[in-house]
Amino acid sequence: MQSSLGWRLANPSDLPAIVALDQAIFRPPWSATSWSDQLLRQATQVATVAERIVGVIAVSELHGTADLLRIMVDRDSRRRGIARQLVDWAGGWASQRGANQLLLEVSQHNESAQALYRSAGFQPLSRRRDYYALGDDALVWSLALPVGPQSSVDPVNLSSQEVPCPSL
Ligand SMILES: CC(C)(COP(=O)(O)OP(=O)(O)OC[C@H]1O[C@@H](n2cnc3c(N)ncnc32)[C@H](O)[C@@H]1OP(=O)(O)O)[C@@H](O)C(=O)NCCC(=O)NCCS
Repeated sequence: MQSSLGWRLANPSDLPAIVALDQAIFRPPWSATSWSDQLLRQATQVATVAERIVGVIAVSELHGTADLLRIMVDRDSRRRGIARQLVDWAGGWASQRGANQLLLEVSQHNESAQALYRSAGFQPLSRRRDYYALGDDALVWSLALPVGPQSSVDPVNLSSQEVPCPSL
């Protein structure tokens, strides 16, 4: 399967597939309107297998601060390094935009996502108590980014196209 993996920026025609994947994974899912705004205004990278979207990451950047807003991988495609590559892409994208850190929020109960972020070099920054629900804190983590040309992301692929990562 690895050989047929593809990577590209999402575009508005991907909206139905991305919304369907989000609805299969998140409670609550993002609305189609939120995804549509994201696709138009910020950056969303997808991983594909035979043109089917199996992984998605949504990021934003404003005034030098970048946020990882959403990441998801289809259940049948997990533990193949897809999310890690998407996170690395997001760091490169944000760095190229001049951001010096990439921020995210993750549920204290979401151990797989925390393991992913740890593996990518994120460090704990703060905690938002009861952010998702009573007894479900958001952990705020950050990744320091190299600013400028040393980033490896392909600038040609930066054409751009919000809402934090929820609890599941
Ligand atoms: C979290 C998620 C995006 C990971 O996607 P993935 O493609 O399976 O992750 P990767 O294969 O790139 O994993 C990279 C590393 O993260 C860690 N990791 C990922 N999933 C893990 C799990 N279930 N248990 C333990 N570690 C895990 C491991 O260190 C892994 O490296 P390894 O496989 O070499 O051990 C996926 O499980 C998912 O979509 N979950 C539901 C949505 C979600 O929780 N999003 C995050 C909200 S903040």
